[in-house]
Amino acid sequence: PRITFIEPDGTVRLVDAEPHESAMQAAKRNGVDGIIGECGGSCICATCHCHVDEAWLDRVGPAGDIEADLLEFEAADVRPESRLACQIQITEALDGLVLHVAGRSR
Ligand code: FES
Repeated sequence: PRITFIEPDGTVRLVDAEPHESAMQAAKRNGVDGIIGECGGSCICATCHCHVDEAWLDRVGPAGDIEADLLEFEAADVRPESRLACQIQITEALDGLVLHVAGRSR
């Protein structure tokens, strides 16, 4: 599946993701700017924060409880469409997904 990341400065990055990896892993493997993934996908660092493109919100779904708490306490610029990329599992159904990498400044 192909995912589009929009980096914080507006740069568009097309990434070929493997099914069953997370969006964070796909971003890291391809050097997407702004996705740090410090905790390795354990949902404790919030350095993989993205805003899901509006057109994809339904298909990606909302953040889980632990994820939502982490976003609330650790992330900047949190919006209803905020997700942690490490908690988005890539499937064929997400081919074409667009994620906007969130900025780090509060
Ligand atoms: Fe740490 Fe996603 S990589 S919360």
